Amino acid sequence: MDCVYKNPSAPIEERVKDLLSRMTLDEKIGQMTQIERGVATLSVITELSIGSILSVGGSAPYEDAPSEAWADMVDGFQKAALGSRLGIPLLYGVDAIHGNNNVYGATIFPQNVGLGATRDADLAQKIGMVTALEVRACGINYNFAPCVAVCKDPRWGRCYESYGEETELIRKMTSIVTGLQGQPPPGYPKNYPFLSGSDKVVACAKHFVGDGGTERGINEGNTISSYDDLERIHIAPYIDCISQGVCTVMASYSKWNGCHLHASHFLLTEVLKEKLGFKGFVITDSEALDRLYHPHGSNYDQSILTAINAGIDMVMVPFRYQLFLDHLRCLVESGKIPMTRIDDAVERILRVKFVSGAFENPLSDRSLLDTVGCNHHRELARVAVRKSLVLLKNGKDITKPFLPLDRKAKRILLAGKHADDLGFQCGGWTKTWEGMGGRITIGTTILDAMKDAVGGETEVVYEENPSPDTFASQDFSYSIVVVGEPPYCESGGDSQDLRIPLGGEELISLVADRVPTLVILISGRPLYIEPLLLEKMDAFVAAWLPGTEGAGITDVIFGDFEFQGRLPMTWFKSVDQLPMHQERNSYEPLFPFGYGLTSKNKVL
Ligand code: BGC
Repeated sequence: MDCVYKNPSAPIEERVKDLLSRMTLDEKIGQMTQIERGVATLSVITELSIGSILSVGGSAPYEDAPSEAWADMVDGFQKAALGSRLGIPLLYGVDAIHGNNNVYGATIFPQNVGLGATRDADLAQKIGMVTALEVRACGINYNFAPCVAVCKDPRWGRCYESYGEETELIRKMTSIVTGLQGQPPPGYPKNYPFLSGSDKVVACAKHFVGDGGTERGINEGNTISSYDDLERIHIAPYIDCISQGVCTVMASYSKWNGCHLHASHFLLTEVLKEKLGFKGFVITDSEALDRLYHPHGSNYDQSILTAINAGIDMVMVPFRYQLFLDHLRCLVESGKIPMTRIDDAVERILRVKFVSGAFENPLSDRSLLDTVGCNHHRELARVAVRKSLVLLKNGKDITKPFLPLDRKAKRILLAGKHADDLGFQCGGWTKTWEGMGGRITIGTTILDAMKDAVGGETEVVYEENPSPDTFASQDFSYSIVVVGEPPYCESGGDSQDLRIPLGGEELISLVADRVPTLVILISGRPLYIEPLLLEKMDAFVAAWLPGTEGAGITDVIFGDFEFQGRLPMTWFKSVDQLPMHQERNSYEPLFPFGYGLTSKNKVL
């Protein structure tokens, strides 16, 4: 209490100034450094005054670690930081992009593309609140979310991380920021970082900017546009995030007109900080400086120099921290990076730490542990699934809707791997970076949900890969075929053909040629649907990547709830049309942006 920075009732800017004035250069550059959990020994944290730790995708204390183990681990790191000379607490960052998805047993919400289909800002905010709780329960106070990319091309492997292709839709869904951080009260300083309490997390709007607009949807590619278009299409959602007090912004791996975002003084400093008035901190993407100019960081020095001078405040190193610190110190000592730049970066980081209450509440609150994966949260996820489903076809004859399905039918065939694979239902960034198949966490597959939804007289026959023989011996009232994409993330998800993988087209044909069939597509984006294939289906539902609550699907297909979802992305007819969105002159989609039917075949 003897120093201003430790006094919780002193104004934040005074605390920042006071603490900054006490810091050595090493402590300052330590604060600018974010390292991976796996290399974060307690002595490294204390001695180097490390500012932040992260779990890169899938990096957990151990496999299937429950929330308590996470809290123990993070508290251990936090205590090491508190034991450093100035006792500056850490920000611990994770990608909780659809619930606290690294943690076994957490509630997993639909990926953003599905939430975009709901167009429900209130729902996004509630999901933000619940995610914040489940993250904080693990002692974690920083979330690299939301992704506010405007996905202009479904060939992009990160399409599912985007709420959709239209700027206004993304702007609406930025309400998740107030869910994660809390709602700034009336009169709160404009654009100033905000966080309302110890059940909230520091959010991060990413990836600044134009990540969803790259040519041919290539991940980490190049977005070619005028500045006016960049601002109108891709920058606009950041303005909403900033006005809601978003604390941090992550730079994109991509380029704008050939210039790396991490190297763009114009976009990071002149636009984001000066024009838009952002007062939080800008973080790099993971290992972005290793990749900036040369592969494998062969010109690391130049990368650090350019990025820090461009306006990067915190560097997600995350492994080669000693090398990074050595370079950065030399660059400052030689005057190539001015001290004023370092002070600005550290001020921004400290501001977020004070705003977030990290000094007052550095450790986990174990009373939150029970919230992780609780029924109340799962119910919200189930509602989100219901609202995200988009009905694209209902009946071969539009006057004879095929849905809702008869839950009292005698025998139903359920086919396809995606019908009983929780990991596939969740997609990438679940448990691991790329995601994985199988019973990866606690949840309900479509098959589980079907068994609960049908009457006692009804037999549900599940076959992952039915053959013609399946139909020879048994009669089915109808079938549900669930096909789609396996989990993927980032560049691994880029696809130039967008065909339904894993034999999905063949499976649809095999079944739909024999039995009336509802096709449910589990995917992070629209996929190519051959006209003939669509004709064969009696009904077609896009379910996106729904997460752990498969019962949200049965709720709707059996008619307990009505379809409400509308396409967040244009459904192209052929990949040659891509990128295809409403702003282009020739707009001849299979289904237009915003399309969706009710079970009575009314266009929503
Ligand atoms: C991704 C970011 C993510 C970061 C940290 C990167 O590979 O591009 O979206 O926040 O990893 O996990």
